[in-house]
Amino acid sequence: MSRWLLTGGAGYIGSHVARDLLASGREVVVLDDLSTGIRERVPVDAELVVASVLDTDAVRRALDGVSGVVHLAAKKAVGESVEQPLLYYRENVGGMTSLLQAMDDVGTACMVYSSSAAVYGEPAWSPISEDSPLQPLSPYGETKVIGEWMVRDVAVARPLSWVSLRYFNVAGAGAINLGDPSVNNLIPMVFRALDRGESPQIFGTDYPTLDGSCIRDYIHVSDLSAAHVAAADLVEREVVGVALNVGTGVGASVIEVMDAVSEVVGRDVGAVAVGRRAGDPPELVAQVMRAQETLGWSARRSLTEMVSSAYAAR
Ligand SMILES: NC(=O)c1ccc[n+]([C@@H]2O[C@H](COP(=O)([O-])OP(=O)(O)OC[C@H]3O[C@@H](n4cnc5c(N)ncnc54)[C@H](O)[C@@H]3O)[C@@H](O)[C@H]2O)c1
Repeated sequence: MSRWLLTGGAGYIGSHVARDLLASGREVVVLDDLSTGIRERVPVDAELVVASVLDTDAVRRALDGVSGVVHLAAKKAVGESVEQPLLYYRENVGGMTSLLQAMDDVGTACMVYSSSAAVYGEPAWSPISEDSPLQPLSPYGETKVIGEWMVRDVAVARPLSWVSLRYFNVAGAGAINLGDPSVNNLIPMVFRALDRGESPQIFGTDYPTLDGSCIRDYIHVSDLSAAHVAAADLVEREVVGVALNVGTGVGASVIEVMDAVSEVVGRDVGAVAVGRRAGDPPELVAQVMRAQETLGWSARRSLTEMVSSAYAAR
């Protein structure tokens, strides 16, 4: 049985990955500073080390007997990263430096890294291939690009098998206690508005898309989590170094998401059109062939399953 370190395992995505790594037969050590994570979300069968990835000594100790690392611990709010860029460089880039140093010190040679579609910024074409230019539009996206480069560069200098997973729009929940507490993602934003008796907003209905609203590639967090296990299997099995999009390859517009929410809650949510937000590209959909071929994985769950599981877990 192999033992894996999961940073950020008390978070929204990490708590799903922790369960799936355990279910794959691995032992799991979660390292999390609980800055946004929730202790109760860490499965009882996993060991929890409460520490920051910036604490290289603590990471080194947590790596004892570990064969691979899934690195999710990071700050992730785009707007906050514009206001506090140094916080993002310290946590995300400093965190990666500390983690890679500790892995180098003890000789851990497998890594699955949590990257983001934010690395592409506003690409000229959609669906977006992994070979599209990396042109992030925020300090957050920049730290994700730098993280990918750091892993790639270290792998040139020493044995390291790695996969960077570029997540598209993560949604849904694998259990009712594992919902997305983020205030920045569309589906939680809609439920929050409904809970307050407000009308959910559609930011922009004059985009060059079929219904005029923005199109995104929503992926169920359980499908995303399964991609991590497939990536962990791959880096354990052979030496690789690859960045992969993780999405469904199918876009949904904001209006289609509102329709799915209306269907799930059993009434028209009465979404209102308001002006565009700055910096929202019209369409961001992943090309997913590379992940399918490399990992033997593909997303299975529908938009309705994302919305209904998010509703149950709100
Ligand atoms: N949720 C999304 O839509 C999305 C999309 C693309 C990429 N990502 C990436 O996925 C990862 C996880 O995101 P999430 O949505 O689960 O967010 P989250 O905030 O729920 O989880 C992040 C976890 O990392 C922990 N953490 C943060 N800084 C830490 C540090 N310095 N040391 C130790 N632990 C630390 C937090 O306590 C939390 O448990 C992040 O790297 C994020 O950039 C998320």
